[in-house]
Amino acid sequence: MKVVLINGSPNAEGCTYTALREVEQILNDEGIETQLFQVGKKPVSGCIACRSCFKTGHCFMDDSVKEVAALFPEHADGLILGSPVYYATMSGQISSFADRLFFSSMKERRFDYKVAAGIVSCRRGGAVGAFDDLNKYFLMNNMYVVGSQYWNMVHGSKPEEVKQDLEGLQTMRRLGKNMAFLLRAFQAAKQLEVKEAVLEEEHIFTNFIQGS
Ligand SMILES: Cc1cc2nc3c(=O)[nH]c(=O)nc-3n(C[C@H](O)[C@H](O)[C@H](O)COP(=O)(O)O)c2cc1C
Repeated sequence: MKVVLINGSPNAEGCTYTALREVEQILNDEGIETQLFQVGKKPVSGCIACRSCFKTGHCFMDDSVKEVAALFPEHADGLILGSPVYYATMSGQISSFADRLFFSSMKERRFDYKVAAGIVSCRRGGAVGAFDDLNKYFLMNNMYVVGSQYWNMVHGSKPEEVKQDLEGLQTMRRLGKNMAFLLRAFQAAKQLEVKEAVLEEEHIFTNFIQGS
């Protein structure tokens, strides 16, 4: 079993990373493989709405969005999006990254029935808004969103400060435990041949202006 973690901060080893590592360590202790991706410091392009992915099943841009998409659904079972809080929302980098990751995955339905969580890091305020933003991707893609003992947030401007946020870090560790449990439960369900939650219908899209 494998969980992919994305650090949506340009700081490769900053606060968001510190929180992600706390979850990652628990997942690893529970025998779950992990792979961490960095959005990095270079600009991350947003979606240009070309819709070529509707035909090809992947984003035409050659960057780590493609790499992450290629891991789903066969090679990964869970996704964690991490973001610093920028003006009470997620970072522009993770927004661009996730827009393209999820839009280009619609054709293949890559994330259906995978487990997911968002985590955020802020100095002082806006964490809940940013956390909600991340969860929006999961909640319209048939994903199982994993919770913890509190909303998944840590506080600090530097990793050393995050390390003092004992409740925040505990929230991360419990998230790791909860996610590991759910992954094991799904694995057991598969062995017991429990029927997957598949709705045997074509996905209906009705725009508000019909025929558009
Ligand atoms: C452009 C920008 C906007 C920010 N906006 C907020 C904010 O709205 N609320 C807040 O508490 N911190 C804000 N911060 C601080 C970061 O969210 C905070 O320091 C975070 O923990 C940094 O995570 P990182 O080390 O992973 O980059 C902002 C930082 C930047 C660079």
